[in-house]
Amino acid sequence: MFIKEAKPRVILNSRKEKSIEIAIHTYEGKFTCSAPSGKSTGKHEVASYNSKGIEKSFYLLKQFCNHIRHKNFLIKVIDDLLQLDVVVKTFEKKYGQLGGNITYILHGAFLKAAAKDNNKELWQLINDDINNSKKPKIPMPIGNCIGGGLHSKPINNKRPDFQEFELIPKEKTFSRAVTINITAYHEAKNLLKSRYINDENAWKTDKTNEEVLYILLSIAQKYNLRIGLDIATSSFYKDGYYNYKNKELIRDRLDQIDYIKRLIKKYKLFYVEDPIDEEDFSGFKEILNHTNGKTLITGDDLTTTNPKRLLRAIRAKSINAIIIKPNQIGSLIKVKKVVELCKRYNITMIFSHRSGETMDNILGDYCVGFGGHFIKTGIIGPERLIKLKRVIDIEKSL
Ligand code: PGA
Ligand code: ZN
Repeated sequence: MFIKEAKPRVILNSRKEKSIEIAIHTYEGKFTCSAPSGKSTGKHEVASYNSKGIEKSFYLLKQFCNHIRHKNFLIKVIDDLLQLDVVVKTFEKKYGQLGGNITYILHGAFLKAAAKDNNKELWQLINDDINNSKKPKIPMPIGNCIGGGLHSKPINNKRPDFQEFELIPKEKTFSRAVTINITAYHEAKNLLKSRYINDENAWKTDKTNEEVLYILLSIAQKYNLRIGLDIATSSFYKDGYYNYKNKELIRDRLDQIDYIKRLIKKYKLFYVEDPIDEEDFSGFKEILNHTNGKTLITGDDLTTTNPKRLLRAIRAKSINAIIIKPNQIGSLIKVKKVVELCKRYNITMIFSHRSGETMDNILGDYCVGFGGHFIKTGIIGPERLIKLKRVIDIEKSL
């Protein structure tokens, strides 16, 4: 794979924040990749950009592009990205850190080009590498339907504390599942009497956590859906207390664990992400123990797509599911390590978008290629639908 040219440009993401897209040109064509960005980020995520900010990263990336111009790379499997990483490391030693979002887009654009070079789709290249070319499983969507927490500005000074209330279909095909989620999403609008959407196009509301759950339960029954929550507790946990907006609801650790156990039972929750603080591995374990494996107790801020944190969570028996956001770790080689651990220890994999998204659809290829069980995105909006559409297209091609 001969790099004829590589060029970055600044683009705006769905939150109108700056992001960077890279385009690499080979004899096979032009391959682009752009990075999403999170708002409720985990403490252990790699830094997205150079400590001097995105402008510095952009400046360095421009220089780096000249470095790889007219170089040859032979990439057939994911670990071959090491050839690129060696060049990155030498460059960073001399000039400064590029940042996780930059290595993420470099890996993404290189993999897209490598797939074409090897006459494969990107998901196929990954699937051949990690699943020995077995027919891939098609995931189910986890759709963010109603929002609160850091992603949603309050209405009348009120909002639910939980960040995401999700719908999870159980259909035979992915395309049918996406349609069901869109129908249920519009029904939720009517029941909530909501007019406003948040960062991920989920409905905003002034209702409480449980009022929202009550509404979702009726929708779930009608459309044969399961309910999920991203509680994103790290965003309202401080010094031993979970600071719910309603002052009567400030909870200590044990109250929080009890509360989550009660919610799981009362609303038959199928999926619960970050129910307790990102450092509390044993708190996760207590909740998981209680569910007899029937609910997916999922790490996001807890694990930050980091193989070491995942291994710690596996040893502590904290989780049975993990959010995989490749830009949290900034390396597809490390994502592969996470996936291998998940397969070995039977951890359910959820490939996830970020709250600030771009029009890149690479997440669909990553999810199918690595064998993800679920793909988590918003239910509508161009940046979300383009990823779901990619999975639909892959499904049709099989
Ligand atoms: P983020 O949130 O993309 O803002 O980090 C999404 C999530 O917590 O799952
Ligand atoms: Zn999360």
